[in-house]
Amino acid sequence: PVHQDLAGKRVVITAGPTREALDPVRYLSNHSSGKMGYALAAACVERGASVSLVSGPVTLPIPPGVNRIDVTSATEMLAAVESQLPCDLFIGCAAVADYRAAAVSEHKLKKTDADSGLTLELVRNPDIVATIAARPDRPFTVGFAAETQSLETHAGSKLERKRLDLIVANDVSREGVGFGSDDNAVTLLWKTHDQIRHLELPLQSKAALAGAIVDHIADRLT
Ligand code: C5P
Repeated sequence: PVHQDLAGKRVVITAGPTREALDPVRYLSNHSSGKMGYALAAACVERGASVSLVSGPVTLPIPPGVNRIDVTSATEMLAAVESQLPCDLFIGCAAVADYRAAAVSEHKLKKTDADSGLTLELVRNPDIVATIAARPDRPFTVGFAAETQSLETHAGSKLERKRLDLIVANDVSREGVGFGSDDNAVTLLWKTHDQIRHLELPLQSKAALAGAIVDHIADRLT
């Protein structure tokens, strides 16, 4: 039996990609599988938390005991997260699209006869994890950072810029980790007394890794 160290806690987690419509049949998105966020949701339920999982389009089953809220775009994801507040812990694990179309075409975009290309105008999406971390009633807020170089420098600056309590940094250039994979290896970064501290969690299944990440969070929540 797992220690119920999150009993009575409300947890909100984002997972998967977002999909940003261009027209009625096309969208911008990414390859996020949602596996890490779903594993975190399952790990939190196992420890007695009440979990809302705000999920972009993925093909994973709902982990038992999890309240899944399906969304498509980043704007919808932010609204769904806000609808679940207040909470004790927010984990932003989704691969949120940074941009969306400035205007979604009502009809299918047509190609022109000319050989000229097509220019799409994009606007920035809200940063969900930073928005939640900036609230006066902020929960303990955890973000992810997928990097291909200078992992700790980039993740450390994200930790500060987004005002997170913890960041889970992922070197996605490594073989067998990250997007779509069943395994992952990460470094946790957080700040105590103005010092950045880190803990490396070695390559293991996303389920085992979710348990190790939640161990660290539960210690700091209580
Ligand atoms: O800045 P970057 O996208 O690398 O940051 C990744 C972290 O920020 C992840 O926790 C991701 O879920 C979150 N994020 C977000 N909203 C965005 C972009 C990223 O919550 N629009």
